[in-house]
Amino acid sequence: MRAQFQLQQDVTFLNHGSYGACLHDVTEHQIEMIRSLERQPVKFFNKFLLPMLEDVRQVLGDFLGCSPSSLGFVRNATSGINSILRQYPFDKGDEMVVTNHGYRACAYASSAVCKDKGVAVKVAEIPFPLEDHHQIIASIQKCFSNKTKLLMVDHVSSPTGLIFPIKEIIDLAHEHQITVIVDGAHGPGMLPLELEGLGVDFYVGNCHKWLAAAKSSGFIFMDKRHHCHFRGEVISHAQDWDSTAPFFQRDGDWPGTWDPSPVLTIPTAISSMRSLFGSWDALREHNSSLVAAATDLLTLQLGVSRLAPQYMFGSMVPLPLPLPFSSLDIAQLGSIKDRLLDEFMIEIPLYLSPNESFSVFRISAQAYNVLEDYKRLAEAFQAILPKA
Ligand SMILES: Cc1ncc(COP(=O)(O)O)c(C=O)c1O
Repeated sequence: MRAQFQLQQDVTFLNHGSYGACLHDVTEHQIEMIRSLERQPVKFFNKFLLPMLEDVRQVLGDFLGCSPSSLGFVRNATSGINSILRQYPFDKGDEMVVTNHGYRACAYASSAVCKDKGVAVKVAEIPFPLEDHHQIIASIQKCFSNKTKLLMVDHVSSPTGLIFPIKEIIDLAHEHQITVIVDGAHGPGMLPLELEGLGVDFYVGNCHKWLAAAKSSGFIFMDKRHHCHFRGEVISHAQDWDSTAPFFQRDGDWPGTWDPSPVLTIPTAISSMRSLFGSWDALREHNSSLVAAATDLLTLQLGVSRLAPQYMFGSMVPLPLPLPFSSLDIAQLGSIKDRLLDEFMIEIPLYLSPNESFSVFRISAQAYNVLEDYKRLAEAFQAILPKA
């Protein structure tokens, strides 16, 4: 299985979460798309591209459980979230709610936009470690007021790996007339999705993480009630197309001259990843069982405790670093991370927990991982831990 991925074969790769990793098939397809574009650039852009994007949207819509007419392409989750935040019709004095488990780049975007527009950002302080998903809902609800207009929550949090109960959160927000953006950077591929049934206003996702398409293949799902009010990130020639497609979608298809090759790999990624285990459900089951077994192994071997019940995780689990590494600063974590890669050929993220109270490492499981990978990690930690 490992040999089917582009990854360097002698590195134990435990960080699918950051940037994904592609099958050879997917990269070959991307290269073929680039060649085809470069052979006849004018014909490619002026004749072939739009029908090809329409086909990709059909396949992606089937995969995400939504109408293709509600999907627009963006470079990545960060750009999609920036685009919605900048256009959101806030009034001065409104409030927006985010959580302390959010992705830092997206938190920066909400702070910057809200500062410009005179909007207060309230941060829901979700405990970590935590015991169950009700604590997530309660922390968010506590921040709602009659001034709250917008809530941004992760589907799967990057630093804590937690799957947020987004259906309950969306329903609760809507009861308070609050619009919801879900940061679904990790959702597609890691979790089964039925976006239309969620009732979400905006779901911004990446196909280059767990769906394993080429990098720079993001999308915005936008509920129909918002189609008339939002544009894409870049307004270009789509302005004068004779089309009934919503503007945010047309703008995404034509943000000026661009490299569409990553987006064009989405159907290949969906079918090639599916074929690895026969179905996407089987692949997800492989990943979640493997990460659960790895969590058992590492907690036992390193003497550390799990940070939340296993049902709250998908394919990524953070664990506290063992003593005396549990309170290192970022620079010290960086040097341990370098040692793990340079001396033990293990790629794994190490960072500080939300609120920076302890340090963690985050394991992930994808098709190419086996339990042996996590045994190697436990041995590496044991080798570099200072002896008592
Ligand atoms: C929760 C979350 N949101 C957003 C992003 C940003 O993704 P991208 O860099 O592809 O925009 C990430 C990246 O890891 C993430 O984990």
